[in-house]
Amino acid sequence: MLEGAKQLPTLEGKRVSLRWLEAGDAADLFAIFSDAKVTRYWSSPPMRELAEAERLVDEVHELFAKRELFQWGVELRESGRIVGHVTLASLDSNNGRAELGYSLARAHWGAGLATEACRVALAFAFETLELRRLEADCDPRNAPSLALLERLGFVREGLARERWQVAGEIQDSVMLGLLRREYTPT
Ligand SMILES: CC(C)(COP(=O)(O)OP(=O)(O)OC[C@H]1O[C@@H](n2cnc3c(N)ncnc32)[C@H](O)[C@@H]1OP(=O)(O)O)[C@@H](O)C(=O)NCCC(=O)NCCS
Repeated sequence: MLEGAKQLPTLEGKRVSLRWLEAGDAADLFAIFSDAKVTRYWSSPPMRELAEAERLVDEVHELFAKRELFQWGVELRESGRIVGHVTLASLDSNNGRAELGYSLARAHWGAGLATEACRVALAFAFETLELRRLEADCDPRNAPSLALLERLGFVREGLARERWQVAGEIQDSVMLGLLRREYTPT
């Protein structure tokens, strides 16, 4: 996948660009991931210090080099700031699949930006990478995320019970999937 590339390509939406994360984005990422409302149903607790966001950027670069994870920053074109991220994780080229993940700074919820960013990532996953299947797992209580996935065309495939333990809380996951043959480009 993306043979020889040193970094992810920039993908353009109408209001947002999906772009390669740089060390200088750590402060914007920290603002997103230190918000307990954003990480409420995340697989890890809120960040407490900037160094965690700096390590995240390093990890994103390392896992891209191994082609295990593609994580773009979502840049709001009008401000040039990173307001979220979209991720293709657990990339499995043999089986043509990956897991979709995303989050958005709370100040930008309710404006359709995550829908726009994910649609751009879906087009890349299905049309450029030619993946066959995207999957997502989502806490059943995370209504905005379930609504987003279903808006994108994801179908509920089952409930994985007690799948996560985050900061002492056991969480179930709704498992969802979207196949290339079901996907409608927008
Ligand atoms: C999941 C998350 C990204 C959803 O954010 P969101 O802002 O609700 O999602 P969207 O950007 O698609 O916006 C949808 C909302 O914008 C509205 N909207 C406005 N313009 C829109 C447009 N052009 N297209 C789609 N929706 C639009 C929709 O009506 C909807 O509003 P509603 O919430 O009042 O029904 C956000 O809640 C989040 O970051 N959560 C924390 C991280 C997280 O849980 N990630 C997922 C783990 S599984």
